[in-house]
Amino acid sequence: MTTFWSLYVTVLSLGTIFSLTWLLLSTRKGQRSEQTDETVGHSFDGIEEYDNPLPKWWFMLFVGTIIFALGYLVLYPGLGNWKGLLPGYGYLDNEKQTPFANGQTGWTGVHEWEKEMARSDAKFGPIFAKFAAMPIEEVAKDPQALKMGGRLFASNCSVCHGSDAKGAYGFPNLTDADWRWGGDAQAIKTTIMGGRHAVMPAWAEVIGEQGVADVSAFVLTNLDGRKLPEGAKADPVAGQKLFATNCVACHGPEGKGTPAMGAPDLTHPAAFIYGSSFAQPVTAVRARCLRKRQCRVTTRFTCWPLTSTACLTERRQRTPNKANA
Ligand code: HEC
Ligand code: HEC
Repeated sequence: MTTFWSLYVTVLSLGTIFSLTWLLLSTRKGQRSEQTDETVGHSFDGIEEYDNPLPKWWFMLFVGTIIFALGYLVLYPGLGNWKGLLPGYGYLDNEKQTPFANGQTGWTGVHEWEKEMARSDAKFGPIFAKFAAMPIEEVAKDPQALKMGGRLFASNCSVCHGSDAKGAYGFPNLTDADWRWGGDAQAIKTTIMGGRHAVMPAWAEVIGEQGVADVSAFVLTNLDGRKLPEGAKADPVAGQKLFATNCVACHGPEGKGTPAMGAPDLTHPAAFIYGSSFAQPVTAVRARCLRKRQCRVTTRFTCWPLTSTACLTERRQRTPNKANA
């Protein structure tokens, strides 16, 4: 910190404390010492205020906090470049005399954190190293690993995939046998390590509104084996041609998907993340990057690391229904 900012912080901090002390003492002067039923004279919505002195315990508490603050600022680094009287820490690791990252000694919040990290590394490092060296199939059988994984899932993944991992609108279900990016141990590890960002092109401008309806009708009737809703103006036969020219490149000739690009299996509507009623695939096919439309806060929506909480909240609010229900 430069001398200017150091002084700035110091003057501002001490100045605040001293002016509060002055305020406390000056308002106490001239106050009556005995209790009274007299009011100050004003009334807010019928609520009046007795003209009594501050309770003693309250006053003492206030004085106590001021003394505490001053003591704290003498002991700890709180005033600009003042390092505090507390001897603090000499080394990150006293036995090996490992210095802190910034090479300095003494008490700072950063040093405190570094020490805590070093302690956790010493404690958990060997456990993680053991699991990292094991094949995933073996780790999956280890009760301790499963417990740890469960906790990691709860704090890092459940916001999106749900605490039961069954997914939600726009978020895949992780408990079924349908995998967009492949379901073997290695593929799942790659997904989690690197994140995934599926891109479904928009079709409205390429094949037109009618084309979108037709091809969705084909997906619904031929690939999913279901019926079109009454009165739907769509032709599955025309849709089949459109599918063959536009969709097979990613979703495969039989619509069974291509894990390498995260194109989902369209013959399995239970795993659709954007819904599987007739209208929902129509929306999905018409619009480009469905996630982008869902969420105006951020345009990139990769699996990991987490992008933006505001975005998640917005998506949750706009969720029309649970796709995997
Ligand atoms: C910000 C929300 C979000 C968080 C947090 C998140 N995911 Fe995901 N996850 C997604 C989305 C969205 C997809 C689909 C990605 C795609 O296909 O583009 C996905 C896909 C996956 C897939 C692939 C599913 C498949 O069918 O192939 C796995 C596995 C997965 N996530 C596991 C996890 C794990 C484990 C965590 C916690 C470490 C996690 N996710 C955290 C949103 C999230
Ligand atoms: C460039 C590759 C590509 C092409 C071409 C493509 N898709 Fe997709 N499609 C994807 C990907 C990737 C996803 C997953 C999108 C996501 O998870 O956000 C997807 C998702 C979908 C979904 C939503 C599935 C769900 O889980 O809700 C439908 C429906 C769909 N595609 C139909 C089609 C149709 C019909 C065509 C042809 C007009 C087509 N796709 C062409 C890659 C493609």
